[in-house]
Amino acid sequence: MTDTVNIGGVVLKKTAALAPMAGVADRAYRLMCREYGACYTVSEMVSAKGICYSDRKTAELCTVTDGERPMAVQLFGSEPEFMAEAVDIVLRYEPDIIDINMGCPVPKVVNTGAGSALMKNIDLASAITEAAVKAAGKTPVTVKFRSGWNSDTINAAEFAKAIENTGAAAITVHGRTRDQFYSGTSDPGVIKAVKSAVKIPVIGSGDVTDLLSCIKMYEETGCDLVMIGRGSYGNPFVFREIDSWFNGEQYSPPDIEEKMQVMLRHIRLILSLSEKSEEMAMHEARKHAAWYMNGYYGSAKFRGRCYQLSSYEEAVRLSEEFIELQHRHNTQKKR
Ligand SMILES: Cc1cc2nc3c(=O)[nH]c(=O)nc-3n(C[C@H](O)[C@H](O)[C@H](O)COP(=O)(O)O)c2cc1C
Repeated sequence: MTDTVNIGGVVLKKTAALAPMAGVADRAYRLMCREYGACYTVSEMVSAKGICYSDRKTAELCTVTDGERPMAVQLFGSEPEFMAEAVDIVLRYEPDIIDINMGCPVPKVVNTGAGSALMKNIDLASAITEAAVKAAGKTPVTVKFRSGWNSDTINAAEFAKAIENTGAAAITVHGRTRDQFYSGTSDPGVIKAVKSAVKIPVIGSGDVTDLLSCIKMYEETGCDLVMIGRGSYGNPFVFREIDSWFNGEQYSPPDIEEKMQVMLRHIRLILSLSEKSEEMAMHEARKHAAWYMNGYYGSAKFRGRCYQLSSYEEAVRLSEEFIELQHRHNTQKKR
């Protein structure tokens, strides 16, 4: 039987969770990954202040559908009062968990004192978390952050302890500093140090792309759960691979036909969940289509063509052409 981890009463299979990714891991993406075995999903980050001032996009961003559960809604902000009010509003959508983003590196967020800027202000980070915990009542509150602001100020373990003291139910650590953004490598040593510093569950994030790197993350850091972000681009199968292994089941990777079928289903899901016209929604689908083609013969040219797609029919034709190309290439290789 697979192990579990308990986050404030929410019991998760100890396999792999889908990381929050603004502009990527939207509802369609989360549904696909959950279906393929991600044990937990997190929404794209939502501005706490934005929620308090207007509810125009709130419903779209905070709605939690059954297929995505267990799911957290992630908030970012730099003021405890707005955070508390936003939590109160988000609770109407009944998320399983509320997560607070203290790791986002982008200037637009950091310049407001939110995201990873909070790693430079432990007192404010604690006050924000405390306000959220109080407002959330029985719903667990978790916090996601990085190893530190820069390589001279790695303070994840100290930060984690302070966050634990506010009543947070778990934390997620991405082993890069803010200054690294997404370059270089994620440091598993920092995640290990955080794990030794706190008693609440620790979720490890950074550079997990397959079963081997997932097992490595569990073994090297002792973390309670592994989270996968970019490794799931065009690859919900990564969750099936990990889930199968933990269930002691045989896993066979998808062939090109299955990959293209899943790509088309992902596109159909994007189109069906979007309120935009097919052409506009296809703009959203383009990058996903391109990712499903990664790593194959001739994929660079086809990925370029994905970025021109403006209808579902075109995507079907492109996938057929791509499959044919792979078969032709494989036959030539055998000769
Ligand atoms: C495009 C993109 C968007 C992201 N958006 C968020 C976000 O909204 N909230 C968050 O906490 N982390 C966000 N992250 C960070 C990821 O959750 C994750 O911690 C990071 O990418 C490292 O994991 P990976 O190597 O598995 O991708 C984002 C990452 C990427 C690449």
